Amino acid sequence: MASPSLNLVPFVSVEHMMDLVLEIGIDQFLVELAGTIEDDFRRWEDFDKTARVASHSTEGVIELMPTSDGRLYAFKYVNGHPKNTRTGKQTVTAFGVLADVETGYPLLLSEMTILTALRTAATSAVAARHLARPDARTMALIGNGAQSEFQARAFHALLGIDRLRLYDIDAAATKRCMTNLEGLGLDIQACATAEEAVEGADIITTATADKQCATILSDNMVGPGVHINAVGGDCPGKTELHRDILLRSDIFVEYPPQTRIEGEIQQLDDDHPVTELWRVIMDQTPGRSSDSQITLFDSVGFATEDFSALRYVREKLLGTRHFIELDLLADPDEPRDLYGMLLRRQAKLKPSQPA
Ligand SMILES: NC(=O)c1ccc[n+]([C@@H]2O[C@H](COP(=O)([O-])OP(=O)(O)OC[C@H]3O[C@@H](n4cnc5c(N)ncnc54)[C@H](O)[C@@H]3O)[C@@H](O)[C@H]2O)c1
Repeated sequence: MASPSLNLVPFVSVEHMMDLVLEIGIDQFLVELAGTIEDDFRRWEDFDKTARVASHSTEGVIELMPTSDGRLYAFKYVNGHPKNTRTGKQTVTAFGVLADVETGYPLLLSEMTILTALRTAATSAVAARHLARPDARTMALIGNGAQSEFQARAFHALLGIDRLRLYDIDAAATKRCMTNLEGLGLDIQACATAEEAVEGADIITTATADKQCATILSDNMVGPGVHINAVGGDCPGKTELHRDILLRSDIFVEYPPQTRIEGEIQQLDDDHPVTELWRVIMDQTPGRSSDSQITLFDSVGFATEDFSALRYVREKLLGTRHFIELDLLADPDEPRDLYGMLLRRQAKLKPSQPA
């Protein structure tokens, strides 16, 4: 996607993103994105890695998530404000940039609210493919907000999950989720409690939003052989699982220095053993080793997944019209004559006045 002019940077708006996703097809997009995320996990050691930079406030958090593989650089701006939905706003919104390391020039600016939901779901499914029992068919989905349908779609497309048991403290959220997932051949049951939702589930996904240490799952709710995909505990003081579940589980994480601060494992000692997901993907270490083992993907979302998502979107934009070009970078005729460019603009706007 070479820009005709150095000042122009492709920008993918929310509308463009939706059009791109729908043109590719939601399932296809999730499958291909999962492939890209997995490919980048396979070259984990190529990436500059740092725990994301978080700015906490009483009601939420604003985070910057940078990474680079030495050729491309990416960062995402993302927030998490669980009370936002009460005033009609999203809990999570995001946008991001992909840039060329050699010149430092941005290559793509994109909405990432929809893309984050897709990449989170795709990452969860990648982890579950390695960690859930191969015969898993039923998933409990607790927390039926913005992320929920994406999780359901990814687990359906990548793992063949075809039975869903939904629960949310807000019955209207469950109803919306159920309606949105109609027509996909899924057997969906709305449940009155979280306990009911986890009955018979092979996989339990928790994607609730609350700025506190909540107990969405207590120890007695998790039986042998279950895979837990814990998505909503992703900030200091914001967890979803009772500590005793963690002590019975084999825990898999993205980047330990970040997960120890933000994930479910913030409840454990700093040296509690965890396995990095990339090592399982690389076959360096086993994922699930028995049908009775409880596996836990303590998902918090890591910068490489956003890097992969932006990289994938950039490839898919080629030859499409799903972007506009923004006049984002100053591009004087002579690179050092930045001030002269301003003067020429001034002369054009108000020919008689000095700047
Ligand atoms: N791990 C990651 O990579 C990642 C990525 C995106 C979002 N998240 C997190 O996932 C969570 C969900 O995000 P979202 O955008 O869907 O939020 P959302 O606000 O749209 O939905 C959250 C839902 O959880 C429900 N809920 C709250 N407390 C509950 C409880 N005790 N039991 C059952 N349901 C409950 C709410 O009613 C709401 O419907 C958030 O905590 C967000 O920070 C994590």
